[in-house]
Amino acid sequence: MANATIIQFNNVTKQYDNDPPVLDNVSFEIERGKFYTLLGPSGCGKTTILRLIAGFMEPSKGEIFFNGKKINQIPANKRQVNTVFQDYALFPHLNVFENVAFGLRIKKLKNAEIQAKVKEALSFVNLSGYENREIREMSGGQRQRVAIARAIVNEPEVILLDEPLSALDLKLRTEMQYELRELQRRLGITFIFVTHDQEEALAMSDEIFVINKGTIQQSGTPTDIYDEPINRFVADFIGESNIVSGKMKKDYLVEFVGREFDCVDMGFTPNEPVEIVIRPEDLEITSLERGKLQVKVDSQLFRGVHYEISCYDKDGNEWLVHSTKKANVGDQIGLYFDPEAIHVMRLGETEEEFDRRLETYADVDRHGK
Ligand SMILES: Nc1ncnc2c1ncn2[C@@H]1O[C@H](COP(=O)(O)OP(=O)(O)O)[C@@H](O)[C@H]1O
Ligand SMILES: [Mg+2]
Repeated sequence: MANATIIQFNNVTKQYDNDPPVLDNVSFEIERGKFYTLLGPSGCGKTTILRLIAGFMEPSKGEIFFNGKKINQIPANKRQVNTVFQDYALFPHLNVFENVAFGLRIKKLKNAEIQAKVKEALSFVNLSGYENREIREMSGGQRQRVAIARAIVNEPEVILLDEPLSALDLKLRTEMQYELRELQRRLGITFIFVTHDQEEALAMSDEIFVINKGTIQQSGTPTDIYDEPINRFVADFIGESNIVSGKMKKDYLVEFVGREFDCVDMGFTPNEPVEIVIRPEDLEITSLERGKLQVKVDSQLFRGVHYEISCYDKDGNEWLVHSTKKANVGDQIGLYFDPEAIHVMRLGETEEEFDRRLETYADVDRHGK
């Protein structure tokens, strides 16, 4: 396909009155047929992005393109986009069939065509046979599926889903995560899914946009974002992290907690201040002598597969460890980690600068450092 880009935001800003912008100069591209997730805390601007794509509002500044055509002023009902809302917004007085058929009736399709399309949409979400049920007779998960059927029956190019799973209990939620992901694969439609739950985002997405305070902090695959967070916000928001301040002494040598450690990062100015991330699963419990850090075990929780162990060093920094081995609360232990486990983050680095820096590491790897 010549052009895989279906939606493009160019320097889009959304501002109400003289308040600070709720979206600030946001640019991104969405490729056709993928599962995207907008991830960020409440109030960061996720729903605003969906509303701009759906055509429920216009940007204050910037341009929005759909299939290469500027759509800033195109009304919602002329866009190839359907939204699944958080509360599903089903019509309580209509049965399942009529809820799904609603948009097709407005478009004045022939009855036979409506019958066929609704039947197919319901079968896609495993609700064949539920046509005549009232909405109030449906469970939370079933209502969710009706809402999805109502979106896919219009055969949109993009489906927007605004925190559709947040009202469900944990077990149903996990089931629906699989179902939604599976449905997206079968339909091949672009999904843009909103959540504030990082585990959900990691489990479901081809691409994640991590958003904070109206700007996209980082975009990438779940593994990119988990393994190489761009800054403290992303590292903290995605998964559990140990984050401390430090200094790059020179290439491949970093200082933190008052000591120097070999690392794999380069291209910083000498003594440049940085932030360090080490993931809890990259810390290994070992003897005091072999440990690169010496810590005291403060508390321990069993999490089913691993122990979550909280330790403190003598400066009072907390070190969280995920280990299949048990520790003893009160013990002095060593923590060992590989140079690769140290992830160095430059303060205030833009996503482009960050990506370029990572590419130079890949070059070094290829040429054998
Ligand atoms: N009509 C409005 N007028 C003023 N501020 C608004 C309006 N709608 C949303 N906001 C503000 O925009 C920000 C982003 O909102 P939203 O996109 O709904 O966040 P999210 O979906 O990430 O929780 C919030 O601070 C919210 O208060
Ligand atoms: Mg929202």
